[in-house]
Amino acid sequence: MNINQLLQKKQKGQKISVLTAWDFLLAQILDQAGVDILLIGDSLAMVALGYETTLPLSAEAMLHHAQAVSRGVSNAFLVCDLPFLSYEGNPQQAFETAGRLLKESRVQSVKLEGGHPDMLETVSFLTRRGIPVMGHVGLTPQSVHQLGYRKQGKTEEAADRIFQEAIALQEAGAFSIVLEHIPSDLAGRITEALSIPTIGIGAGKKCDGQVLVTADFLGLTEKAPPFAPAYVDLRSQIKSAVTAYCDDVSAERFPE
Ligand code: KIV
Repeated sequence: MNINQLLQKKQKGQKISVLTAWDFLLAQILDQAGVDILLIGDSLAMVALGYETTLPLSAEAMLHHAQAVSRGVSNAFLVCDLPFLSYEGNPQQAFETAGRLLKESRVQSVKLEGGHPDMLETVSFLTRRGIPVMGHVGLTPQSVHQLGYRKQGKTEEAADRIFQEAIALQEAGAFSIVLEHIPSDLAGRITEALSIPTIGIGAGKKCDGQVLVTADFLGLTEKAPPFAPAYVDLRSQIKSAVTAYCDDVSAERFPE
């Protein structure tokens, strides 16, 4: 999968599937199952490393996970989040963090949060230097201490701001934009107005594609957001398997 194929999918009205990944084994399974984009999302700070927010994740730790995921992927397009404080300082800082990810792993593009003028300058700086950028507006978890995890764009003014940010990100060179936890109608209006694909999470069905955090999707997380359905209850299945194993070891049924 590449950027042109993703654009073609939008043009043909074919939906784009995106899941997150943080390690080799899971990435390999998701890739073999045919997902279009694998996102090494900074949500891995919470689902793989046990932090309360995405903020503590370092660029070094992200690179480590990006390298592990890269080893498992041969078909999906690879996007990697730029961690909090590894890119907001100025475009050069973003260029160095993103450049390192692209040079030292097989990541093909980076995602960054926000659509305010400083971020637009960074998107333009990166894309003019050959680094594809995915934008992310609406609920932006790196701004949790300002926005919380609440739905965004509920007033006309807030919706208008998110709409304008999405348009501006496309103009700055973004190849795609994540729309997180915004009203479905707003996501639909943005999707119609843009020529690049929108990827929704908690943003209804009018987006060009959908993304889920894989730990939520597989039913591994203890508490998933309301808009992230589990397709399988792996948490219970793993617990049952472990209980059965422990019982078998205690009762000397294993090994046979
Ligand atoms: O980090 C992440 O998993 C994300 C998705 C929720 C889009 O940014």
